[in-house]
Amino acid sequence: LGEYQNALEYKLVLHRGFNLISGIHSPEVLDQIHNFEIRDSDVFVITYPKSGKRENIAATWYYYVTATNDQLNSERVPWIELLDSEKQFVSASSPRIHVSHLPYKFMPLGLKQKKGKVIYVARNPKDVLVSYFHFHKFANMLETPKDFDTFFEKFMEGNVFGNCWFEHVKSWCSHNDEMNFSYITYEEMIKVLVERIASFLGRNLTPQQLNDVVEHSTFKNMKNNPQANYQQVPVNLLNHQQGAFMRKGTVGDWKNYFTVAQNERFDKVYQQKMKDVPLSFIWDMS
Ligand code: A3P
Repeated sequence: LGEYQNALEYKLVLHRGFNLISGIHSPEVLDQIHNFEIRDSDVFVITYPKSGKRENIAATWYYYVTATNDQLNSERVPWIELLDSEKQFVSASSPRIHVSHLPYKFMPLGLKQKKGKVIYVARNPKDVLVSYFHFHKFANMLETPKDFDTFFEKFMEGNVFGNCWFEHVKSWCSHNDEMNFSYITYEEMIKVLVERIASFLGRNLTPQQLNDVVEHSTFKNMKNNPQANYQQVPVNLLNHQQGAFMRKGTVGDWKNYFTVAQNERFDKVYQQKMKDVPLSFIWDMS
């Protein structure tokens, strides 16, 4: 990540209806992802930004038991959409595990032939909104919002990297039958997540390994773990004076931010947009 350009040069650029961050992503790279050859052992962890536990729970446990533990999370679980991803993707040894914030339409076509596995991690969108608001202040590649209300509007319009939360969830969940697909939420207990992912990926963890992964994945340990807490990301990308990647890690922080009117508006949009999503998520929306 150290090689990326200066903050002033980052901006959102629309490509095929999706906002990219210039200097980090490129339209050409995105268009190549369709053709990436998928191996049966590949795993993709997909999230809308700030849905949490991407590398942490869905992926780290996997490496925790299979690989050496001396790399940064971003290195052992790379982003598929970053500028140099293709070289990295082709040369990585199996089992490969990648993360992505991209909507379904950009992903490798091999997934539709039921090659590889996809884990979609979702989080209560109200908490995502608040986490993303703070992340916009912290991350230099994203424009600092004037205030929460301005950001609320931006999020509702999908005018952020990741675009509209509703469309993102729908784009993946409505194609769930076409892929080897599992979905989990941030809100579920860590242990349940780890057990469920282990079984979906066909791995048997010993009770000791399960305990180790759960322990490794707690917010407190992740926050203090330099391999996971993004403290080594240079200041031209993340402004460490303005916040921390592992910010609060709680459920329901949105209640400290949303006005009654914003909450009512959000619920209305949620009901409209989510009615045809074939999966159900358990969130405290009130
Ligand atoms: P908050 O800003 O609400 O604290 P992502 O990893 O998708 O960018 O999401 C970041 C959010 O997930 C942040 O939310 C961060 O604190 C939270 N998070 C990251 N690791 C976590 C963990 N191990 N347990 C709980 N929350 C975690």
